[in-house]
Amino acid sequence: MKQTILLTGGAGFIGSHVVRLFVNKYPEIHIVNLDNLTYAGNLENLTDIDSKSNYTFIKGDIVDKEFIDKLFKQYNFDGVIHLAAESHVDRSITNPLAFVETNILGTVNLLNAARHSWSDNMEGKRFYHISTDEVYGTLGETGLFTEETPYDPRSPYSASKASSDHLVRAYYHTYDLPVVISNCSNNYGSHQFPEKLIPLCINNIKHN
Ligand SMILES: NC(=O)c1ccc[n+]([C@@H]2O[C@H](COP(=O)([O-])OP(=O)(O)OC[C@H]3O[C@@H](n4cnc5c(N)ncnc54)[C@H](O)[C@@H]3O)[C@@H](O)[C@H]2O)c1
Repeated sequence: MKQTILLTGGAGFIGSHVVRLFVNKYPEIHIVNLDNLTYAGNLENLTDIDSKSNYTFIKGDIVDKEFIDKLFKQYNFDGVIHLAAESHVDRSITNPLAFVETNILGTVNLLNAARHSWSDNMEGKRFYHISTDEVYGTLGETGLFTEETPYDPRSPYSASKASSDHLVRAYYHTYDLPVVISNCSNNYGSHQFPEKLIPLCINNIKHN
């Protein structure tokens, strides 16, 4: 394999689609899918690719610093695509701490491991952090956000994602870590956990 990429949260909704895309489209790239299989993670999302030679699944927690450090030493990753997160706003209102742990501490553990692993040569390396437009707060009269919109998170979920974005940016400015952040709007589609609005409505309609 020419490269090894760590993808976190690949058993979740968006992650499972990204894993499938990469594994099928780039047979020369080894994709290591790290997921803790919380309530939101489901390996049945990936049964069609689980025997591919360029795919490895590892069950593990991004909050576990020692485990993450060992994983980076073992695989010598060329890149990170970081999707693992606690992602449901309503759950963040009932249990904010889980969001602080996974979304902030987990992200810092990955940033630190990447920084140490790539300290000799950052050339060609990339840490891609998947964030959300919710860091910008509530839509104003313009009805849109841009990358220039000031951060104004309104829930523990969006505050934890905003915090992780700031840390990713800080690792770029402080350590020259090659990072990319995207702040996409809501996604919907197959394999989305039925707590989210569209699958919840469809599920309720199906069950009257
Ligand atoms: N779904 C959306 O509309 C949307 C919009 C914008 C941004 N995002 C972001 O995209 C990413 C993926 O979102 P999603 O909707 O697929 O989420 P999801 O909840 O469906 O999946 C999250 C995955 O992360 C895993 N995970 C959670 N905690 C973990 C931990 N401590 N260690 C390892 N794995 C862990 C879960 O098991 C699950 O498989 C998240 O970072 C989210 O903030 C999502």
